[in-house]
Amino acid sequence: MKILLVDDETAILNTLEILFRGEGYDVAIADSGPKALAALEDEKPDIVLTDIRMPGATGLEVLAEARAVDPEIPVILMTAQASLQSAVRAVNEGAYYYLQKPFANDELLAICRRASEARQLKVENRRLKKEIKRNARAGVDRPIGIASRFLSVLELAETVAATESTVLISGESGTGKEVVARYIHTLSERAEGPFLSINCGALPESLLESELFGHTKGSFTGAVRDKDGLLVAAGGGTFFLDEIGEMSPSTQVKMLRAIQEREVIPVGSTQAVPVDVRIIAATNRDLEEEIGRGAFRSDLYYRLNVIQLHLPPLRDRREDIPILARHFLDHSAVNGGEPFVLAETTIGMLMEYDWPGNVRELENALERAVVVSTKRVIEPSALPERVREAPSPRLVASEAPVNPTMEVIERAYILWVLESEGGNKTRAAEVLGIDPSTLYRKLNRYGIEV
Ligand SMILES: Nc1ncnc2c1ncn2[C@@H]1O[C@H](COP(=O)(O)OP(=O)(O)OP(=O)(O)O)[C@@H](O)[C@H]1O
Ligand SMILES: [Mg+2]
Repeated sequence: MKILLVDDETAILNTLEILFRGEGYDVAIADSGPKALAALEDEKPDIVLTDIRMPGATGLEVLAEARAVDPEIPVILMTAQASLQSAVRAVNEGAYYYLQKPFANDELLAICRRASEARQLKVENRRLKKEIKRNARAGVDRPIGIASRFLSVLELAETVAATESTVLISGESGTGKEVVARYIHTLSERAEGPFLSINCGALPESLLESELFGHTKGSFTGAVRDKDGLLVAAGGGTFFLDEIGEMSPSTQVKMLRAIQEREVIPVGSTQAVPVDVRIIAATNRDLEEEIGRGAFRSDLYYRLNVIQLHLPPLRDRREDIPILARHFLDHSAVNGGEPFVLAETTIGMLMEYDWPGNVRELENALERAVVVSTKRVIEPSALPERVREAPSPRLVASEAPVNPTMEVIERAYILWVLESEGGNKTRAAEVLGIDPSTLYRKLNRYGIEV
């Protein structure tokens, strides 16, 4: 804690300096108003103790300047009887305290101790806020996950967010494609604009086209007035084309045109309307395979696929299961004020199940568990039957003996970790908590080739 002492009487200044140094403070001194103003900048004190009446600049000016430099600096003013009125004004203007001269040293130290505690709290608070902000990327919730193959997707998403580039997100159902699309939007320059989406598989062709591109009055039965399409409505924002693989070939042609020309022609119109959107498309199909079948246009594919983000299925990033589970429980109902927790055995079952419905299935399973669980600790019995009854395939391979030895288990465990780290030995060693060299030895010994 650094305290700045300001008084034009050197005798007082000297006494105070000795007093505060004795208490362990860092001390800076100024014997005039102007010097005090300079010291505020140069010394960056945590607390200021200043006389009010001084030549050059008064204690009130020191107060104003201190608050301009840092609004959270506690400023304590010392005043003689005659300037009581200005002291009252000082407190109104944000002084931490005013002391009437003469005062006892004990009283002064007690006030400064309180001020420095308050100061410390404020500094700490500010640091935490900054930290939270940094973690949350300026208030944006990062999608949950710690698996390296998931994090590398997120990092790529964070990089492309700043660009205008079209993004294609692929991945099985429930892996979080929409979550990532929204994340990109929120981090982008377009964050203030709308995020609109459409599921290309949910509407018949003619309706999908009129939703996307808009229509003119009378262009079909029921079109009673002109209507903007969603691509126009998403102007200045992001448009999310979900399940793009379901789009019919003729709509694909129109979509390609919209992306290339940055304009759409509403159904029933001949007049093009400009659009200003960033397109993010998602698919759970293998589009290259669809191209091979002739069901998807390769020119549209190359337009969309400028950046491809592939979200791995949950079974390939099992490390994410506990943290996702924690996240969903935190967001579910609380039992008598206390959050739900998972029993060890329950976590084990979640880790072993294959989650064909990915994160969405996990979310649903936990929602159900919270409803059926009568206790705060969620036991396996609260899980859906299919999760409970899944064979536990991984650690003990089918050809393993009924009572596997430690070696059999270790070998299987190493294989499993290697597989979930995509064969990366350094990462696997880290996860296993052993030296890479130890891992190499074990790989040799167990005859595992990567
Ligand atoms: N990393 C994540 N962090 C937090 N929640 C997630 C994450 N991934 C997915 N979810 C949640 O899981 C559910 C499914 O996610 P989302 O709708 O993004 O999946 P999807 O890939 O678009 O699925 P589909 O192909 O079926 O449309 C949502 O409720 C979403 O909030
Ligand atoms: Mg989706």
